[in-house]
Amino acid sequence: MANIDWSKLTFAYTKTNTILITTFRNGEWSPVESLTEDNIKFSTFCGAFHYAIECFEGLKAFRGKDGRIRLFRPEENAKRLRNSAAYLGIEAPSVEMFVDMCKRIVKENEDFLPPYEASGASMYIRPTLIGSNPQLGVQSSKEVTFMMLCSPVGAYVGGALDAVDVVIARNYDRAAPNGSGAYKVGGNYACSLYSLNKAHELGYKAVLYLDPTTKTYIDEFNSSNFFAIKGNTYITPDSPSILPSITNKSLEAVARHLGMEVERRPVPVEELSTFEEVGECGTAVVITPVHKLVDKPTLESSEETVYLYGDGQCGPKSLRLYNYIKGIQRGEIEDAFGWITFVE
Ligand SMILES: Cc1ncc(COP(=O)(O)O)c(C=O)c1O
Repeated sequence: MANIDWSKLTFAYTKTNTILITTFRNGEWSPVESLTEDNIKFSTFCGAFHYAIECFEGLKAFRGKDGRIRLFRPEENAKRLRNSAAYLGIEAPSVEMFVDMCKRIVKENEDFLPPYEASGASMYIRPTLIGSNPQLGVQSSKEVTFMMLCSPVGAYVGGALDAVDVVIARNYDRAAPNGSGAYKVGGNYACSLYSLNKAHELGYKAVLYLDPTTKTYIDEFNSSNFFAIKGNTYITPDSPSILPSITNKSLEAVARHLGMEVERRPVPVEELSTFEEVGECGTAVVITPVHKLVDKPTLESSEETVYLYGDGQCGPKSLRLYNYIKGIQRGEIEDAFGWITFVE
C-alpha cells in the first residue's frame, strides 16, 4: 500500500501507478494501454485545446468493511458521458467498455485505494474524453481519446459534513438558456470560474446559480446539485440547465425508501425562507450542508438577503440520508438498490 497519510488527503491530485488510454480512429478503439507516465503527447491543434471538445465524469471506488472494493453506480456515469459526447458530436465508449476500464484502473492502482478505516477517503476516478485530432475548423472531432484516470482523495472542502456559506449571484450564470448546462462538458466549468473566483474572494465556498432565463428558480451550484428539506420532504430543482446528478438521484431513492416525500420540481427563490435544511450534493462528498445562504442582486453589491440553516452542523434529515449512502458505499448497509459493482 502506498505510503500516504489518508487522513490528510484533500480533493487534490496524487499521482498513482497508471492511467489508461485508448483512441477512437478510423471507426475503432485502439487496445486500451496502461501508461505509468501521466504527461502524454497531443497535437497542439487538437479540438480539446481550442474548442473545448471535451467531456468527463467523476465517480468513486471504496474499500468496504468486508475488504471488497466497490464502485458506486458506474453505469450511470457511463450513460451520462455518452450523453455529453452526443452533445459534442463525438464518439464515446460503450457502457461495458467504460465499466471495464473503471475496474481495471482501480485494480492497477489498488495501492492507492484508501483503507476502510480511513472513512473520509476514497479513490476518485476521472474518465475523460477529448477531441484529439489536429483541426482548425470548428467541428466535432473525428478522432477522440478516452482516458481513465484516478487519484486517492479526501473531502472536497474542509472536513466531510462541515457546513459552508454560499452565495446567489444574480448577475452571473453558469449555463445559457437552452445551452449546455445538463452536460458534463469542460466548457461549463471554465465559464463558471469568473463568478466562482469572485465568490471565493468574498469568503463563499460556492455560487448558487438561478435559472438563466427568468432568474426566479434555483438551478444548482458550480459542481453540485441543490437540495432542501422541509418537514418530511426532500426537495430538489427540476431544471433543463442542471447536471443530472447521480448522487441526487440516489438521495431521492433513499429518501423514499426511508419514508420521506420527494419533490423534484421548479424551486422558487422565495421558498428558501421555508426550508429547514439546505445542502449541496455530488460525488465528491455526497452532501455538504449549507449554513448561510446569501442572495445578492449582484456579487459586487453590499445589499444582501441572508438565510440561515442549522447551527453549522449537518441537519438531522440530511445526515440520515448521508449515512445511508455512505453505508452502501462502504459495505455497511445492504445494497437494496443494486447500485454497487464489485472490483474483483
Ligand atoms: C455541475 C455539477 N452538478 C452536479 C454534480 C453532482 O453530480 P454527481 O452526483 O453525479 O457527482 C456535479 C459533479 O459531479 C457537477 O459538476
